[in-house]
Amino acid sequence: MKKITKAVIPAAGLGTRVLPASKSVPKEMLNIVDKPAIQYIVEEAAAAGITDILIITNRGKGAIEDHFDHSFELEKNLEGNAAKRDLYESVLACSDIADIYFKRQKETKGLADAIYRAKSFVGDEPFAILYGDDVIDAEYPVTKQLTDVYEKFGNGVVGVQEVPREDVPKYCTLDVTPLEKNVMQVHDMLEKPSLSEIMSCYSILGRVVMPPEIFGIIENTPPVNGEVGFTAAMNTLAKQGRLNAVDFVGNRFDMGNKLGILKANCEMGLRHPELKDDFKAYLKELVSKL
Ligand code: UTP
Repeated sequence: MKKITKAVIPAAGLGTRVLPASKSVPKEMLNIVDKPAIQYIVEEAAAAGITDILIITNRGKGAIEDHFDHSFELEKNLEGNAAKRDLYESVLACSDIADIYFKRQKETKGLADAIYRAKSFVGDEPFAILYGDDVIDAEYPVTKQLTDVYEKFGNGVVGVQEVPREDVPKYCTLDVTPLEKNVMQVHDMLEKPSLSEIMSCYSILGRVVMPPEIFGIIENTPPVNGEVGFTAAMNTLAKQGRLNAVDFVGNRFDMGNKLGILKANCEMGLRHPELKDDFKAYLKELVSKL
């Protein structure tokens, strides 16, 4: 089976849960220690063998395009300074992670509509989708955990983890049966269920691999309140027996909410080579006073 080399990152949402921070800075550009969230996501895709990435943006998200472009003035300024060699290389590296393309979602009409913008980019190939505000820290990149399963079974794949029962209504619920190791067959799924509708506590958390047929399915999925639900579209694959779930190994940070941003900065700060010792000492002192 052909290797999956294309990915789509939907990053055109309004980010209302992190306002006012996301008023003029895209939430995908909010930082974790010293890198914007979306850079971690692009790096994960590249580590999984993805070479071509389409980022779906909208008005006001130009900072994302600038971040993955050259910054000639900055590069020139840092280039000749031996003491700033690492900084120079880190700035230069941003423009060379993968081939990155951009397309606008002209109206914010939900995730399925954002992904549909990628139809011509994707063509007739399976592709990965990495939600622009979900950073997942993992040794075995989660995108690779999913593409490996796609390449084995040939079905669509959703990355899931069990979430506390009271949180399931914020996400979605899946009816699944085990297949092998951490891979399951998905039979049914429901977006934002009520507590009584919960089928399992597995929810989809930010990573998906889809066959190109998903675009035709989106076209034929009836909108609810003007928006086609992406979960409803993927459920068509589930009902056809063409969807697997992977209980992925990784630590997910939801950069779309304020607590998620704080947690991401704490945990990544404690592992940052330059800062970890000072940050740990600071945290210990702080915690002793709580
Ligand atoms: P979210 O629902 O978490 O993003 O979508 P949001 O709409 O920005 O959130 P709030 O509720 O207003 O805070 C998950 C991903 O899909 C993208 C978002 O940018 C995010 O990365 N998205 C969402 C789009 O690209 N287009 C949309 O119309 C909606």
